[in-house]
Amino acid sequence: MAKKTIADVDPNNKVVLMRVDFNVPLDEAGNITDDRRIRMALPSIRSVIDRGGKLVLISHLGRPKGEGPEPKYSLAPVAKRLSELLNKPVQFATDVVGPDAEAKVKALQPGDVLLLENLRFHPGEKSGDPEFAARLASWADIYCNDAFGTCHRQDASMVAVPKAMDGKPKVVGFLVAKEIKYLSEVIANPERPFVAILGGAKVSDKIKVINRLLDVCDRVLIGGAMAYTFALAQGGRVGNSLVEPDKVDLAKELIAKGGDRLVLPVDTHCGDSFSPDCHKMIVKAGEIPDGWEGLDIGPETARKYAEIIHQAKTIVWNGPMGVFEMPPFDEGTKAVAQAIAESEATSIIGGGDSAAAIEKLGFADKVTHVSTGGGASLAMLEGEKFEAVELLDDA
Ligand code: 3PG
Repeated sequence: MAKKTIADVDPNNKVVLMRVDFNVPLDEAGNITDDRRIRMALPSIRSVIDRGGKLVLISHLGRPKGEGPEPKYSLAPVAKRLSELLNKPVQFATDVVGPDAEAKVKALQPGDVLLLENLRFHPGEKSGDPEFAARLASWADIYCNDAFGTCHRQDASMVAVPKAMDGKPKVVGFLVAKEIKYLSEVIANPERPFVAILGGAKVSDKIKVINRLLDVCDRVLIGGAMAYTFALAQGGRVGNSLVEPDKVDLAKELIAKGGDRLVLPVDTHCGDSFSPDCHKMIVKAGEIPDGWEGLDIGPETARKYAEIIHQAKTIVWNGPMGVFEMPPFDEGTKAVAQAIAESEATSIIGGGDSAAAIEKLGFADKVTHVSTGGGASLAMLEGEKFEAVELLDDA
């Protein structure tokens, strides 16, 4: 069911409590190394302040213990970056539901933006404490969820807070609406051929998504270390490659279910150790000698996958094809990313490693959608329903 968005409410002179996912990577010195999650929230933020709303932004950052402030997880650098992006001051409260936050919320004027300190400094955020939720909820007239990356969580700000705002408008932001459109709606009604490319280390992490996509896709291309568990299931030799021997039966079931739709690598780029300086060679899939390990799909597989991708009308990609942070074992991932970038298809890139890869390779603006969610984008591709979204107002 489609949800009301922030465009469907009038925020003028109202306090809008907007849950965003500003869980961005920081370096040792506290500098933000990737601000995409902040930039992707700007349309919803601008929509509120441009229409005279009083905006209170709430987010977590990292996984602090929930026992009070931990400076390395402070959202203060995010307030600074947001202020640069908006080109206007962004106020910052040094607590979550304490006196500083309360005083600053009460003093907000139309068009002001206030970011509260990391929600997870308070124990109530992870425990879903109703009192904590009620306090945040009591300050707001409108609730907006634009935190796609956190939508698979039950944290108080995602579930208990909107529940505590019964009778008041509860809507999604533009980012959440966009993520749902691509990761759920497009996938439910794809233009065909519909091709999924799935990589990553473990079959166990991807069982649900492989199963679901085998039901709806014309082709599911497999890469990453999980390909070696499939090779084992076909009776192949995998040398020292990363495998899950206890998932071999499951891999056999997926092979049987998938038939021609499940496409496995035909060759492998291996090394004699996990290092960029190792000796390297290309072997046929399932013929990795002892003392060698598979670290990427081989060139023949990359060519074959690129050809299939070029024919697709809808593409979903989740997980790198090899150890893309360790050249030359990034070649398979590069070939796939390039084929997706060249394609005219609707292309959807799951968050996490594949989003990082497409950004690093410079193709992010050549695809239709790069998700801001890691776990959340995988869960949505698996077909999971998110309570944090379900409980919001229907359109
Ligand atoms: C993420 O980065 O996946 C989200 O911000 C959720 O963070 P979490 O896994 O710590 O809940």
